[in-house]
Amino acid sequence: MEPAVWKRLLSSVILGFVLYRSDVTALKNGLALTPPMGWLHWQRFLCQTDCKNYPTSCINDQLFMQMADIMVSNGWLKAGYKYLCIDDCWLAPHRDKNNRLQADPDRFPGGMKKLIDYVHDRGLLFGIYQDVGNKTCAGFPGSRDFYELDAQTFADWGVDLLKFDGCYYDTLEALKEGYRRMAMALNRTGRDIVYSCEWPLYARQIEQVNYTEVAEYCNSWRNFGDIDDSWASVKTIVDITAALQEELVPAAGPGAWNDPDMLVIGNFGLSFDQQVTQMALWAIMAAPLLMSNDLREISKESTALLQNQEVIAINQDPLGTQGYRLLKVNGFDMWEKPLASGALAISVTNRQEIGGPRYFLLSRAMVWDGLACDTCYVTQLLPTRYEYGYFNASQVLKVPVNPSGTVLLRLE
Ligand code: GAL
Repeated sequence: MEPAVWKRLLSSVILGFVLYRSDVTALKNGLALTPPMGWLHWQRFLCQTDCKNYPTSCINDQLFMQMADIMVSNGWLKAGYKYLCIDDCWLAPHRDKNNRLQADPDRFPGGMKKLIDYVHDRGLLFGIYQDVGNKTCAGFPGSRDFYELDAQTFADWGVDLLKFDGCYYDTLEALKEGYRRMAMALNRTGRDIVYSCEWPLYARQIEQVNYTEVAEYCNSWRNFGDIDDSWASVKTIVDITAALQEELVPAAGPGAWNDPDMLVIGNFGLSFDQQVTQMALWAIMAAPLLMSNDLREISKESTALLQNQEVIAINQDPLGTQGYRLLKVNGFDMWEKPLASGALAISVTNRQEIGGPRYFLLSRAMVWDGLACDTCYVTQLLPTRYEYGYFNASQVLKVPVNPSGTVLLRLE
C-alpha cells in the first residue's frame, strides 16, 4: 500500500478511537492530567538492602535524601521532575502490632514519615510502592487484606503517588478486585494520591484487558514486563507498544496513561543515540517520565537530554493524545503525535544498525491531515536543535538519522 494511503487509514482509525474515548469515564481524582514526571529507584538500584557493602547505593533514607537535594539543586524539579519515588524493598519484614506497614528500621531509622517530610520540605512530591497480593514482588508484606488500612497509612505519611504492583495475587478476579478496592480506599482518604497500576501487565497473561475499566480506576498502568538498561529492552517495548497501539492509544488521555516503564537514560546500557531514541519515543508515547538513574553521577549530555524543555513539552502536551507509529518503511519507523496547538510532533528512528546516518525523506502528504498548516515551520528538537524553516506541500525534507538514533521534529 502507498504510504500516504496507509497513513490516512491508520490515523483515521486511531484518531476515531481517541475521539470516541472522550466519552470514557477516566478516574476522576483530577490528578496526572499530564504524564507524571519524576525519579523511581527500581531499575538502577533494585533491591539492594546490604548497606554495609553498598553504603551509597542501598535502599535507605540517605539515598532518597541525596536524590531529593540533587533534584532541587541540579534543575530536575524545575524541569518538571517532581515525584521522588521509592520502589520495592523499603519495608520491614513484618507489619507492626496494629497491622500497620512500617519501613525497615535499620535503613529508615526515622521512619517513612520523616523522610517524606524531608522530601516535601524541598518542594518535591513522594511516591511509594506496594502490591495487591499478600507479598511484594521482592517478598515483603503485601497489601492484601489491608487495602483500607494501607491507603490510610500512606495518606497519614503524606504519600503523593502509589505504584501498586501485582505479584502474589490468588486469582484474576482477586487481582482486579484488589486494584479497584485500593483505588476507592485512596479516594476515601481525601488525599491527592496518583495511582499507578500494573493491572494490565498481569491480566494480559490471562484475558483481553478492558482498558476502559482500567482507566476508570488507575492514573497510569504498566502493560508489559520490566525495562532493563539495554537497547534490546527499549526496542522491545517500543515495538510491542506499536503492535498494540489500536488498543493502547485510545485508552490514554489526561488522567490515564500507558506506562512503558522507566527512562534508563544516564546509565550504562544505551549509546547516546539510543538515549535520544528513548527520550523522543517516551515523549511521543505520552509516557510517564520516571527516570531510574544515579543523579549524583550523570553526564552533562544525558542531563541536557532529560531536561530538554521542548521535548518535555511534547510529552506534557495538554491534549494528552498518545502518539502512534504511522509508518515502518525502508528500515525507518515514523511516529506522530498531534498537539493541542494544532501542531504535530514527528519522530523518525533509523532501525538499521549497520552503516552510518541515512536520509529519511519526509513530505507533507505523509503526515496527519489535521495538521493546521499547509506550509509548515519545521524545527528539529533532537538529537540537536535545528530549524529547517518553512516547508510546503511540494517539498521533500531530507532528514539524516543515525543508526539506532531518532530525529524528533515539530511541525507547526
Ligand atoms: C516488578 C515491577 C518492577 C519493580 C519490581 C519490584 O514486578 O514490574 O517495576 O517494581 O517488581 O520488585
